Amino acid sequence: MYVLVTVLAALFLALLQRRFKSRRPCLDPKRLDGKTVLITGGASGIGKETAVALARRGARVHITSHDEQKGEEALRDIKKESASMNVRFWSLNMANLQSIRNFCKEFLKNESRLDILINSDGVPAVLDWTDNGFSMCFGVNHLGPFLLTNLLIDRLKSCSPSRIVTITSNVHKYQKLDFSDLNYNIVPLFTYCRSKLANVYFTQEMARQMERHGVTACAVHPGYVVGDWTSQFSFLFRIVMYVFTSLFFISCQAAAQTVIYCAISDDVLQHNGGYFSDSKPCKLRPNAQDAGIAKKLWEASEAMVGLTSAMGHPASGTR
Ligand SMILES: NC(=O)c1ccc[n+]([C@@H]2O[C@H](COP(=O)([O-])OP(=O)(O)OC[C@H]3O[C@@H](n4cnc5c(N)ncnc54)[C@H](OP(=O)(O)O)[C@@H]3O)[C@@H](O)[C@H]2O)c1
Repeated sequence: MYVLVTVLAALFLALLQRRFKSRRPCLDPKRLDGKTVLITGGASGIGKETAVALARRGARVHITSHDEQKGEEALRDIKKESASMNVRFWSLNMANLQSIRNFCKEFLKNESRLDILINSDGVPAVLDWTDNGFSMCFGVNHLGPFLLTNLLIDRLKSCSPSRIVTITSNVHKYQKLDFSDLNYNIVPLFTYCRSKLANVYFTQEMARQMERHGVTACAVHPGYVVGDWTSQFSFLFRIVMYVFTSLFFISCQAAAQTVIYCAISDDVLQHNGGYFSDSKPCKLRPNAQDAGIAKKLWEASEAMVGLTSAMGHPASGTR
């Protein structure tokens, strides 16, 4: 009896592991010579692995971090691992709207191209507030990328065909948006799930608005990764997470594969506004596909970050 239970448990664990851990590598051989890529949050985790991969393909890669020292160290690593010197670091605090505005202004002044924007910055499930009084999850995970993308959209349009890849998470399916309290900041996991749902809706509405401009937008669930995000929790929590994550979580390199796929593959063009996991388009649940909600979130986000749109088009990058 014990043997049977052990065998069944081992089988169950192996199946679970396979489900969580298997990730298709991006095999598309496309080169990116002459293309410019911006990866927010590119100084660690999935963003950093993506930066290495795209720099290896010949792209000029920009990464951002709100920690100068970390950014400079990441820059050295990315240059070394990709054997490319065409990488640049920028300081950017996504929890501060003025920092985003300053960054975009400088970026547009210094860089004539932007072909691929990867919104990889993100905070885990935390209860905190941004400098502008938004909940940390909603502010850094959604409002920051929303403002940044809008401020850079004209450059993406002028470099079309171009891409916007926003990293969400499949936990978006567990929550709904509450328009009476978009800054919901009570249960940490719920506030994270809502911010990731906002990423999905942002992508859909962006794709709709960019349909005729040659800018393709997609949202990516990268898979579950250990990353740096456990570092801010207690030692005990980190040990428990270490055991759990080594069983079920994937490496940042594996998680970057769908991001890379969405940044370069032509298959993605047929799924503008789509949601991708394991390098393929995936169906969304009803809580995450409502054009009315996507538009409403867009308008609410514009008001929150102080952007106004004319005739339904995203605000100009020159603001
Ligand atoms: N890890 C997972 O299991 C998992 C699963 C699904 C989705 N995701 C999503 O994947 C994305 C990347 O996560 P990751 O796992 O690679 O985590 P990570 O290593 O912690 O990377 C997150 C990045 O976000 C940046 N960031 C955080 N707060 C910021 C701020 N105030 N201003 C500017 N940048 C800030 C960090 O940059 P600095 O600290 O350098 O400024 C960091 O580089 C996130 O959007 C995350 O929600 C992760």
